[in-house]
Amino acid sequence: MSESVRAFYDGLAGEYHLMFADWRREIARQGEALDALIHRQSDGAVASLLDCACGIGTQAIALALQGYRVHATDFSAPAAERARREAQSFGAVMTVEVADFRHLGEVLTQRFDVVICCDNALSHCLADDDLPRALGQMQGRLRSGGLFLASIRDYDRLLARDGSAGALDPGLPGLHGKSQDHGPRGTMPQVFDDATGRRIAFQVWDWAPDGRSYAVHQYFVQEFEGEHRTSHHVSRFRALRRAEVDEALKAAGFRDIHWHFPADSGFYQPVVTARA
Ligand SMILES: C[S@@+](CC[C@H](N)C(=O)[O-])C[C@H]1O[C@@H](n2cnc3c(N)ncnc32)[C@H](O)[C@@H]1O
Repeated sequence: MSESVRAFYDGLAGEYHLMFADWRREIARQGEALDALIHRQSDGAVASLLDCACGIGTQAIALALQGYRVHATDFSAPAAERARREAQSFGAVMTVEVADFRHLGEVLTQRFDVVICCDNALSHCLADDDLPRALGQMQGRLRSGGLFLASIRDYDRLLARDGSAGALDPGLPGLHGKSQDHGPRGTMPQVFDDATGRRIAFQVWDWAPDGRSYAVHQYFVQEFEGEHRTSHHVSRFRALRRAEVDEALKAAGFRDIHWHFPADSGFYQPVVTARA
């Protein structure tokens, strides 16, 4: 089965919200946390913001509702199309375009006060030169002194050998079985009670022999009138450590690099901020 990242998100576009208990409520929560963080880290007024991995729009819509002038891009056309539709359903004003964040300069000429790339999207930089290239392109879309913000899964904690490796994101405990002794086998099932019945979301992870990346099998099991339907999507992520991100940010010309953790930021993943 193909592990193509773009095909994964094309296929997930209609179901991405199923990972959350209540996606629409999640948008309000994330908007407040990100807005506070952006204001704490910015060098002055912030108006324009590019979300270069907008997916179906969780952060882009949230920040448009907080008053930012948002341009949202993603390389999955179905995800971008859903983001456009969902923004309208929230009454959020934002523009949406299809673009690969490794080639932003080929599509966008404008510069922004803030560029964001959330929800572990940087971990899809699988080839060795993908991460430096993507960060260079994101840096190129910022005005001088503009703020970069990205969130990634806490792989440093997840892959720690001290027995704490079960926790993925706060509230999302991992399965402890190991594949090829590199890391957790997946995420614990999240169980939600929808109007149509039970919904269960979980992932199974298969680690590459070198332990640097893993295939993610995303499963949704949904109950409709007593029947259970399963959907399955597969892709690959790189287990990016914070030191690797720091190094690539510096190489791309960023400065003032800071990590912000959930207990302080109120955001569910570690967030890195840096200045162009
Ligand atoms: C975990 S999802 C997060 C989506 C988004 N934050 C949301 O709330 O829907 C990661 C997103 O990154 C996008 N992505 C991955 N690699 C990309 C690339 N090279 N260029 C642009 N988007 C990319 C995917 O298409 C996907 O929508």
